[in-house]
Amino acid sequence: MSKYSDLEIKQAITAEDKQKCIDIRVRVFVDEQKYTLESETNDEYDATCDHYLATCLATKDDGTTVRVPVGTLRYIAYGDFVAKLGRLAVHSDARGLKVGLRLVQHFVEVARAKGDRAIVLHGQQDKRGFYEKAGFSVDACDEAGFLEDGTPHIRMWYRF
Ligand SMILES: CC(C)(COP(=O)(O)OP(=O)(O)OC[C@H]1O[C@@H](n2cnc3c(N)ncnc32)[C@H](O)[C@@H]1OP(=O)(O)O)[C@@H](O)C(=O)NCCC(=O)NCCS
Repeated sequence: MSKYSDLEIKQAITAEDKQKCIDIRVRVFVDEQKYTLESETNDEYDATCDHYLATCLATKDDGTTVRVPVGTLRYIAYGDFVAKLGRLAVHSDARGLKVGLRLVQHFVEVARAKGDRAIVLHGQQDKRGFYEKAGFSVDACDEAGFLEDGTPHIRMWYRF
């Protein structure tokens, strides 16, 4: 049986929930992937974008459960009815359980409800297959990719 169950995704409204999102990003992007702490704690979009927090019930050794943060992503209104999906991160011990996919699906529904016509993201090259499974694709003109914060990235789109 998985340690995690009962996934819930909600917009992080309170300062406490927003901090939980940042904490996940620091664990994943700074501790694990070695991006700078500055990039996660002092980003120009964080104050104005919408943050989403995924939580699960975690089963403890004594059989009791506690709700814990497992993933996050953020929504930036880019203008011209385009949303930017960013900072998708799932705790390493919660991966492979469809938390990432469910976060992206949730984002798509949020963007659809807001009236967006498209979603764009700059994905790490080695995550392309993940985003393709979530319905994103790469335009032919973007196939070359680019470096962002020193690592290979690729622009991907989801069009409604
Ligand atoms: C990328 C990430 C968000 C995926 O989250 P996850 O919860 O482990 O993924 P899911 O369980 O939802 O996977 C959904 C599907 O994508 C596949 N998948 C996951 N990562 C993949 C990858 N890197 N390449 C190709 N396919 C991938 C899974 O196998 C699964 O396929 P299936 O439906 O056929 O079984 C997670 O690995 C993560 O947080 N990584 C570190 C942070 C990061 O790199 N974020 C993205 C920056 S662009």
